[in-house]
Amino acid sequence: MAQTKSIHGEWSSRFAYILAATGSAVGLGNIWKFPYITGENGGGAFVLVYLACVLAIGIPIMIAETMMGRRGRQSPINTLSTLSQEANANKNWHYLGWLGVIAGILILSYYSVIAGWAIAYVFKAIFGGFSADAAIVKSSFDDLIASPWQLLFWHSLFMIATISVVMRGVKGGLEKAVQLLMPALLVILLILVAYAMTTGEYYFQGLSFMFSPDFSEIDSDAILTAMGHAFFTLGLGMGAIMVYGSYLPSGVSIVKTSLYIAGADTVVALLAGIAIFPLVFANGLEPGSGPGLIFQTLPIAFGNMTGGWLFGILFFVLLVFAALTSSISLVEPMVAWLVENKELSRVKASVMSGVFIWALGVAVAFSFNIWSGFKIFDKTIFDFLDYLTANLMLPIGGFCIAFFAGWIMQQKDVKDELDLPEQQYKTWKFLACYIAPAAVFIVFLHVLGLF
Ligand code: TRP
Repeated sequence: MAQTKSIHGEWSSRFAYILAATGSAVGLGNIWKFPYITGENGGGAFVLVYLACVLAIGIPIMIAETMMGRRGRQSPINTLSTLSQEANANKNWHYLGWLGVIAGILILSYYSVIAGWAIAYVFKAIFGGFSADAAIVKSSFDDLIASPWQLLFWHSLFMIATISVVMRGVKGGLEKAVQLLMPALLVILLILVAYAMTTGEYYFQGLSFMFSPDFSEIDSDAILTAMGHAFFTLGLGMGAIMVYGSYLPSGVSIVKTSLYIAGADTVVALLAGIAIFPLVFANGLEPGSGPGLIFQTLPIAFGNMTGGWLFGILFFVLLVFAALTSSISLVEPMVAWLVENKELSRVKASVMSGVFIWALGVAVAFSFNIWSGFKIFDKTIFDFLDYLTANLMLPIGGFCIAFFAGWIMQQKDVKDELDLPEQQYKTWKFLACYIAPAAVFIVFLHVLGLF
């Protein structure tokens, strides 16, 4: 019989869990990454593929991953050991936990650099305000990323913030912070959407860019990116939601909470796109201009709008918080494992993980400037890590998780955790056993050019 409680504690309520998991899901992925990859991949058709991936692959895997966490009640590595024992399966399954820990380290090393840009923008907003002139806004962004020392400084600040939260345990400050911050973020996004509506024809051009699909823009790489992003934005495939699930009190419905979390995450991403694309078109910018997209567009809106000074500050503050509630979930699996297996205190485990990830992040920060000529498979360090983790490691991790939950675990244990009416259980099982793994597999074959 599996443990009934995690040694690291539990969420204080179902609501606290929903907030924390939504905090993990909603982050830079929604507001920074989703708009720019949608821009790079031609808009509407990409959005549709992404939505289909969330529904058919993301949600069933989120349920599987959370369920495994709650059943195992430990860090993903140890959870997989316990669950494979329980199922009389091969012990090597715990390497899936390792894959997750490594993915978390790699993701956070670049996530922190980008979150650092957001912190830098908080200060830009406070001290300079934003210009309404697109050219000035762009050059201010270019100056920031051209400076290795500035990037290093902001990246370090974000890592310190992340570690100081993780160190205290998730229950203390974070549960409360998220409760306040997530609704505030939503309100500011709605204000930005309202501003985008004032751009008239550009608003409709933005909407039509996002919602009228042109499938000629879609190639296998776009499909891979959409699928990878579904994992990234929901925070799946590396043990983050597994470890959050391990702190979930028994009796809370995993399926319902997963649906809320995925729903909230999708709404935030779509709103971010609706706020951003009209500004892109109104200012003659390129939707495909890459990772700098929101930093080169939203300030224009703040520069133009009455009260823009205040909204600008608020927006970037909230973006930093959204990033923070995500980044902690990226280190949590590693910290939990260090505490369980190396008998380190939570503080030591957090600091060690933080220093390690910070060091990797330095290379990412430099890849935007002094090391921009250094390429791995034709990609800068930043691009390479993003591609490797989001497009390969997360889908592979997710595939294995679905496979484990659907084919390896004893289904009576699964049923026990999910506690669903028979028909709903069967629907989940069909999606997790067949549809999700097959979809990941087919996309990979397609990318490899095998059909
Ligand atoms: N979902 C977060 C975002 O969209 C990032 C994130 C948090 C994540 N935890 C994760 C991505 C686990 C992959 C795996 O910004």
